[in-house]
Amino acid sequence: MPSKILVVDDDSASIEAASEVLEREGYDLFAASGGREALETLAAEDIDVVITDEKMPDLSGIDLLKHIKDNYPYTQVIILTGYGSIDSAVQATKAGADGYLEKPIQINILRQTTKNALEKRSLFLQNVNLREQLDDKFGFANIIGTSKPMQEVFRMIRLVAPTNATVLIRGESGVGKELIANAIHNHSRRKDKPYRTINCGALYRELLESELFGHERGAFTGATTRKLGLFEQANGGTLLLDEVGEMGPETQVKFLRVLEGQEFTRLGGDKPIKTDVRIIAATNADLEGAVRNGKFRNDLYHRINRFPIRVPPLRERREDIPLLVSAFIKEFSREHERSISGINPQAMEYLKNGAWDGNIRELRNVIETAIILAQAETLELGDFSSEFQTSFTDSEIVSDPHTQMGIPVGLDTPANQESSVDTDGEQVGTVGMTMEEIEKEAIGKTLAETGNNKKRTAEMLGIGLRTLYRKLESYGWLNKSDQEDNLSD
Ligand SMILES: Nc1ncnc2c1ncn2[C@@H]1O[C@H](COP(=O)(O)OP(=O)(O)OP(=O)(O)O)[C@@H](O)[C@H]1O
Ligand SMILES: [Mg+2]
Repeated sequence: MPSKILVVDDDSASIEAASEVLEREGYDLFAASGGREALETLAAEDIDVVITDEKMPDLSGIDLLKHIKDNYPYTQVIILTGYGSIDSAVQATKAGADGYLEKPIQINILRQTTKNALEKRSLFLQNVNLREQLDDKFGFANIIGTSKPMQEVFRMIRLVAPTNATVLIRGESGVGKELIANAIHNHSRRKDKPYRTINCGALYRELLESELFGHERGAFTGATTRKLGLFEQANGGTLLLDEVGEMGPETQVKFLRVLEGQEFTRLGGDKPIKTDVRIIAATNADLEGAVRNGKFRNDLYHRINRFPIRVPPLRERREDIPLLVSAFIKEFSREHERSISGINPQAMEYLKNGAWDGNIRELRNVIETAIILAQAETLELGDFSSEFQTSFTDSEIVSDPHTQMGIPVGLDTPANQESSVDTDGEQVGTVGMTMEEIEKEAIGKTLAETGNNKKRTAEMLGIGLRTLYRKLESYGWLNKSDQEDNLSD
């Protein structure tokens, strides 16, 4: 397939002259009369080399260059500069141009520069392929999935990781956005530098800003020492801003300033501080809607949305379920010291058909519970006990407002919640819990231990069955069949 070259110039005579020469070399030529038109062509065609004039009415060659490097990192860009304009040549190279040509264009130099750019591109791609082969062998360490949509996600990770482009990872809760952010950092040149994450939705404004930008001593009551924010801590590395859609308007302004100038001030300080941080943002929110409602700045939206990676929900890639299931069986049977070696086909079929509104996190939790409950060497349908099965219709999924997990009714026990917290590395102890909370946790754990056997649970806890039911009802842990059981008891 011939290489695709895009020539961008508002001077049509100059385009024609260059195109003619390059067409004779066997390349496939595209033309655009300005920056905006060039962006359209870039979006529609897989362009190998862009040759662009430096001065255009709608978008400067340097701005076009930046856009290309952010969005199509392997497309080569050659800038056309005025004759003898050393300054602009230097500027172009600094901004990441792969070559420059002086006007009027000399045919030989045009041919040679284009050829060099194409060679550089194919070297880059060989590198990507090489890395791809390595990754295929070793996988993206911990991201499981062979489906088409996941392969597309992997491809995007490989392309964008080595650049400094801001990445926006989008997808429902539990699809693996954090794993992907991690993979981007680990496959970047920054991998030996700090990687920091922060959840913008979890902190109120002052705290979020002091975490991000740091503060000077005395910036506010309680600020007894100077504190470095994440933008300084992550200097040279990567910062993941999770739930970026939750950031308030004032913080958005400051964040935009960092993105545009790589500069910020600590709270209570006035000295602008430079930083070199690669930003990855993640969200499961409807950012476009938030922009329309005025909740999210339009300029910030465009600034972070240059390289979006959409992670598909599990129900759109059910072919990944078996792989995930066997990986989780291995993981949890080791963790809980059970020797479960597999799952029977009927149970697998059942899992393949789940709604999985809580995506992979939910599947992981369900497998963990089943491993704990399992009676045999392989997981059986019965290990996903009947009350869990009712959870596989939308109406039965309850969403926990705290963790935003889709938790099947009947699985929403402290034992289960704790295990999901554990995976994030946090420990929950009983210190500081109310007696009521401790009681609730004890009941939840005992239920999990007895396979949801109420009678055994009541015996083990030394309380009456009626009391247990009353408590379960007050926690909202009873479903219909339980209540019927209760009546017949
Ligand atoms: N492809 C995958 N392979 C293996 N494990 C996965 C995969 N995707 C997600 N997980 C696991 O599922 C859980 C949820 O993933 P993660 O925290 O990355 O989701 P998220 O998209 O950030 O969710 P949220 O929006 O709720 O923060 C984690 O335990 C993660 O390890
Ligand atoms: Mg997350």
